Amino acid sequence: MATINDNFLKLKAGYLFPEIARRVKAYAEANPDAPIIKLGIGDVTEPLPEACRSAMIAAVEEMGDRATFKGYGPEQGYGWLREAIAKTDFQSRGCDIDASEIFISDGAKCDCGNILDIFGHNNTIAVTDPVYPVYVDTNVMAGNTGDADDSGKYGGLVYMPISADNNFTAEIPSQKVDLIYLCFPNNPTGATATKEHLKQWVDYAKANGSIILFDAAYEAFITDDSLPHSIYEIEGARDCAIEFRSFSKNAGFTGTRCALAVVPKSLKGKAADGSEVALHQLWNRRQSTKFNGVSYIVQRGAEAVYSAEGQAQTKALIAFYLENARIVREQLTSAGLKVYGGVNAPYVWVKTPDGLTSWDFFDKLLNATHIVGTPGSGFGAAGEGYFRISAFNSRENVNEATRRIVEKFSV
Ligand code: MLT
Repeated sequence: MATINDNFLKLKAGYLFPEIARRVKAYAEANPDAPIIKLGIGDVTEPLPEACRSAMIAAVEEMGDRATFKGYGPEQGYGWLREAIAKTDFQSRGCDIDASEIFISDGAKCDCGNILDIFGHNNTIAVTDPVYPVYVDTNVMAGNTGDADDSGKYGGLVYMPISADNNFTAEIPSQKVDLIYLCFPNNPTGATATKEHLKQWVDYAKANGSIILFDAAYEAFITDDSLPHSIYEIEGARDCAIEFRSFSKNAGFTGTRCALAVVPKSLKGKAADGSEVALHQLWNRRQSTKFNGVSYIVQRGAEAVYSAEGQAQTKALIAFYLENARIVREQLTSAGLKVYGGVNAPYVWVKTPDGLTSWDFFDKLLNATHIVGTPGSGFGAAGEGYFRISAFNSRENVNEATRRIVEKFSV
């Protein structure tokens, strides 16, 4: 019989969001009339921007004509999309990033997991607690951790607690770590990082030969001009950071699929013989071997985000979800709940009332109000006693959900 990757057996329960979906399905079957509103998974609800739709329709037409038909595209993504990204997302903010350092992909989640292919198995890996579960689970699958303890923490990982006490930004570790996952604006807490904070990480990484894996999937939600959108706004980050971005949350591409990873050519890792190897070269080799690129049609849709209309339309989408976040924040605060985040981020991080555990609050909220959120403990042991509410929904649902919560939970 073929053997399996036993590391999968170390994983705790199901992946968080399917596990929530399973519980909600069971509840809905038992309570078919319950008007459930889902503010759990951060999945967008509003339609694709018109500019993206038109560009994709035109691309479909091109695919229907022998003269303009496209077969396999470049594994790294089409040059015109990479150029538009380099110019608009990076160079315009003073980041020294070239189009050839940008790799188009089908998702930031995939990239965050796949990137482990190019790293060794003996790195010390640091994650925040709470954390986006993908960073942890993909390391477990890759065999980079030991077993989980009773609180769900895996042996071999360095957990950096984030809480209201440190403004949900991790302290720089006192020990040496090789790979550091950072996510700003943060999923799940909705916290942001200042340039000064990111500079501390860049300085640490450069001093220790570490690589920062910077997840900027929610950068478009930053409205405070003083906050950095990219780690490359910090001097020296080209030499110590990979950045992940996505079209999912700014342009509603969760079901359309397009994202990018930036792997600067100056970034190096160490081979077993002690020599330094460019990570760009390894990632390019990895992508060329295991990936055939994102569809031409979708890349044309993503390119349209950078047109004048696309920029205006995505800005309007972001403003819509940020207004939802404001409503959630203000309504829950008026109900006497303590809330964080949701200002430059689409997630509101709520302290559970009456000392309830995260899952107890999940059940209570579902039963009393038919609202679905995400238990903070699903993001790590230090998320216990917290709950995440996503601002991705229609205005009508957000108004109704917050009305029900205020009605049932006001103190
Ligand atoms: C979330 O709810 O945390 C997100 O949907 C996760 C993701 O984008 O993969």
